[in-house]
Parts: sequence; C-alpha cells; structure tokens
Amino acid sequence: MRLCMIGTGYVGLVSGVCFSDLGNDVVCVDKDINKINLLNKGKIPIYEPGLAEIALKNIKNKRLTFSKDLKNSVKNSDIIFICVGTPTKKNGSSADLSQIYNVAKEISTSINKFKIIITKSTVPVTTGDEIEKILSKKNNKKRFAVVSNPEFLREGEAIRDFTYPDRIVIGSNDKKSNRIMKTLYTPLISKGSQYVHTSRRAAELIKYASNAFLATKITFINEIANLCEKTGINVEDISIGMGLDKRIGGRFLRAGPAYGGSCFPKDTKAITSTADKFKTNLSVIKSVIKSNENRSNLLLNRIYEILKKKVKNKKITFLGVTFKANTDDMRDSSSLKMIPALSKRGAIIRYFDPSGYKKEFKNIKNVSYESSIKKSTEGSDLVIIHTEWNDFKSINFKNLTKSKKFIVYDMRNIYSPIKFKTHGLKYFSVGR
Ligand SMILES: NC(=O)c1ccc[n+]([C@@H]2O[C@H](COP(=O)([O-])OP(=O)(O)OC[C@H]3O[C@@H](n4cnc5c(N)ncnc54)[C@H](O)[C@@H]3O)[C@@H](O)[C@H]2O)c1
Repeated sequence: MRLCMIGTGYVGLVSGVCFSDLGNDVVCVDKDINKINLLNKGKIPIYEPGLAEIALKNIKNKRLTFSKDLKNSVKNSDIIFICVGTPTKKNGSSADLSQIYNVAKEISTSINKFKIIITKSTVPVTTGDEIEKILSKKNNKKRFAVVSNPEFLREGEAIRDFTYPDRIVIGSNDKKSNRIMKTLYTPLISKGSQYVHTSRRAAELIKYASNAFLATKITFINEIANLCEKTGINVEDISIGMGLDKRIGGRFLRAGPAYGGSCFPKDTKAITSTADKFKTNLSVIKSVIKSNENRSNLLLNRIYEILKKKVKNKKITFLGVTFKANTDDMRDSSSLKMIPALSKRGAIIRYFDPSGYKKEFKNIKNVSYESSIKKSTEGSDLVIIHTEWNDFKSINFKNLTKSKKFIVYDMRNIYSPIKFKTHGLKYFSVGR
C-alpha cells in the first residue's frame, strides 16, 4: 500500500519506518525542513534504539522516502496518517488541535481519489468528526473516510511496541476503511496482536482512558511509597505483593519521580478538559494530575532534608535527565522542575545523560553537562540517579568515591540499600 505519514516525530517516523519494513511504500512528510534534510542524508533526528538500522535498510530498498511537499505526497498515497503534535493549549488544559486542523485543511485540497485519512496523533473525542467536516467542504464524502488509529508505542521501546502491539485499535464508521485497515495490519495480527474495531469516537477515547489509567497507577504507587517511608516499609514489597494479583498487574507499579514525557501530563489534562466540556467530572484523574504536580516538590524537599537544608554551593550530580530511559525526550521531565529549583538555591549542578547535552538547561545558572559518569560525579556532595538507564545499573561506586565520598539518592530504586552499607556510603531511595 502507498502510505503518507504527516509529521515525522517520534510517532510518525517510527510508524513510517516500521510500515515500510512491512513492505509498504511510505513517504514521511514534515514541515521542519532541517528534519527532512537530515533524513534525506540518512541521519535519524531522534534517539530511538534500533530505528536507524531499519530506516537505512528501507531507504536503500526505496520503500521509504522523505519530503516537505505535503500536497503531492498526499496525492500519491492511498492512506494518510496524521502524526503531528497535540500539545496542551497555552494557558489552558485542553489539547491544542491547530496542527491537526491545519493539516486537514491542506489534505482537503489534495484528494484526487479515494483516501483514508487516519489520526494517529492522540486527539480528543469528536476530533474525527471535525476533520470530516473540514474535508467535506472541498470533497464529496464518498472520496474519503476518516479513521482513528491511536498509537500506543513507548519511546525507547518503540520498534518492539509497533511490531508486537498488545492491540491495534481502529475506530471507523464505515466497513470499507475497516477492511483496508485490517489488511494493512495483517502482518501484525498474524503474529498475535488483537485487532479491535470500534466507532471512531470510542477509539479516540480508548487512547486517553488508557494513558490516564497508567498515569493513575504510577501516581498511586508514588503515594503509597510516601506512606512506606513514614512506616518503615519497603515499597518494592508492596509492588510485588499487589502486582502478582492478575487483576492489578505489576507493570507501572514502580515508585519514582513524577511521571513526565510527551504524553501522560498533556493527555491527563486533555481528558479532564473533554469531560468538563461535556459537563461530567473526571475527579479521579484530576486528583492524579494534582498529586503528580506536587511530586517534584516532595522529592525536592527530600533533597533539602538529605543535605540538611544546606544547598548553597553543594555539588549535585544528576545521572539521567530525560523523563525515562532510552529516549532523548525532555518534554515534561521532572528534572526540568528540580534542576532549576536547586540552581536557584545556589547548588552547583552537573549532569550526565547517555542521550547527550540538553539545551533546556542552557540558560540556567551553574548547570553544566559532563560527558561521563566519572566526570560528572568527581568531587560531588550528592549524586541523584534520576533516570533508569542501563548505564547507571552497575556503577562502581567504590572507585568513584576513592578521593571523596558522596551521598546517593536513587530515585529509581535501582540499587539495594545493603550494597551501600558495605561501601560506607549514605544511600537514600524512594519508599524504602
Ligand atoms: N511520543 C510518543 O511516545 C507518543 C506515543 C503515542 C502517541 N503520541 C501522540 O502522537 C502525536 C505526535 O507525537 P510525537 O511525539 O511524534 O510529536 P513530535 O513533536 O515528535 O512530532 C510531530 C511532528 O509533526 C510535524 N508537523 C507539525 N505540523 C505539521 C504540518 N503541518 N505538516 C507537516 N509536519 C508537521 C512537526 O514538525 C514535528 O516534526 C501526539 O498527538 C502524541 O500525543 C506520542
């Protein structure tokens, strides 16, 4: 099939590359000319394990191309995936759909034969209806179908998640587009993925409800961790004891910093805003948002306690600053709250992240990037393990603390506290 991905970010690029690997002809379009130029030179603009190899293979096979020409790319394709951003509106909590509707307007002038227009972006209930209205202004309704196919991939695991999804959700209000979508996904269905066909609105809501539920699970265990800290209980025992119950499940039950990233914070806000619009109240999710927003302050207070309230001129190291491991994505990472707050109190901060330097800290006083764990921890007073990269899972603390001992605050509970007793290092973690 001939596919066009509009928006070549984490979702559009990964899906485009993987669809081409399944044998389709794919053109990935973006208005960001730098991105397209890089891709045309065979360079991948994001950090996603395994993506470059599959992309290069399919560029070579001529099944994968990149373009900034949206109109012609749409004309030459049968299936169009909209994969642009849906960030939170400035000064609000609903999703800003301007990128989606701009793309819909551009597509509406390029429908030269029957096309399926799909939202892979996360969009609020009734967005598909609006897209249909925009396209109908310039086209007969028989010439297109608007479908919702939300994406569930996780950054850092995106190739595996795309190739072996638990489920493929297709929301369409007509039989023809459902048949075509099922054919497109047949290679994944035949490997065991469930194909779920619903109404378009239901598919839109499935995505938000899923993300809100996962965010709730994380926030729930984070609050339980607070209680564990006060009562001398190890939260890991609680996670195991709860998670073995099949009705609950062990995933997303690991205590740590506030959830962040490009999805959970904006999607939890957007679903509550949709509910408000339809005059119903998602009070559970509203509490989750509030609790998560407080989480970074709570962990900051813990840092102040660990440093006995003497933060000025203290050398603090952050190991990992992205919102989770195996991605370069900084969107809504809790480090964006914690590092500026510590800098304001006079701390001297160095960070090392396997995905490299971050422009987000460029203008923050006394914050610098170091190129290794060793360089970033030399002479430190406190080392914070903020992200669970594999690089941080077997650090030789004995070697690093030869000349000066530092305190470790392990926000991901990577290490066993016993290990630190034998090194004579002060060690703090979450909910233990
Ligand atoms: N990142 C994730 O892990 C993830 C997972 C599931 C779903 N989603 C959803 O997918 C959508 C995209 O997320 P992302 O992280 O890939 O975003 P992104 O910001 O990485 O990429 C979006 C791309 O769209 C491009 N774009 C915007 N307007 C355009 C236009 N008119 N023409 C061509 N290109 C245009 C931008 O230049 C950008 O490159 C969002 O709705 C998000 O919520 C993201």
